[in-house]
Amino acid sequence: MMATRIFLLGLLPLICYLALPSHASNLQDFCVANSQGLMSGQACKDPKLVEANDFFFSGLHLQGNTSNPLGSKVTPVNVAQVPGLYSLGISNVRIDYGPWGLNPPHTHPRATEILTVIEGTLSVGFVTSNPENRLVTKTLCKGDVFVFPVNLIHFQYNVGPTNAIAIAALNSENPGVITMANAIFGSNLPISSDVLAKAFQLDKNVVEYLQYKF
Ligand SMILES: *[C@@H]1O[C@H](CO)[C@@H](O)[C@H](O)[C@H]1NC(C)=O
Repeated sequence: MMATRIFLLGLLPLICYLALPSHASNLQDFCVANSQGLMSGQACKDPKLVEANDFFFSGLHLQGNTSNPLGSKVTPVNVAQVPGLYSLGISNVRIDYGPWGLNPPHTHPRATEILTVIEGTLSVGFVTSNPENRLVTKTLCKGDVFVFPVNLIHFQYNVGPTNAIAIAALNSENPGVITMANAIFGSNLPISSDVLAKAFQLDKNVVEYLQYKF
């Protein structure tokens, strides 16, 4: 009897642990990031001072300026814009594409993305990891939805002469972005052109030209 009790008592912390959802937000309704920043360990904004504007963003009806070499513009709505998203694991973006505009190959290190086409026609795709590196691709029309799994390189290309618009949700309040071309050819400091020439099997002049471009 005693032994059973001790055994059950021993299990209690485990049961409590399993019953406790892993997310810290279950300890409170929310943690609005305070204005000092988002470093972990910083206190949440005093709940009594939290207001509707901490959970609010206005402007996703506005067209992004696509007058740039890629012909696309991402308007993010993540924890940097909406402090009330802190620790909630969700965010979204509006993406505008001019005619033949491209959201170039990139990854989100902390989020899967689910994208909905609001206007236009997009050719989209992601590439699976090594060794297959299989391109999973589809042409999407207005109303179509596509998923880009966390970490995988993906892109969207407006395959039409008119503007296109997409809204995408991501399962992190701070998904992060690594744009392949910029990270590799535009890093600060630059990666040695010897490294890139060998990695991409390119002439060093081509590498240096790409580094100049990015
Ligand atoms: C869009 O961006 C371009 C390039 O930065 C700039 O010249 C232009 O004035 C911008 N247009 C608007 C409407 O803001």
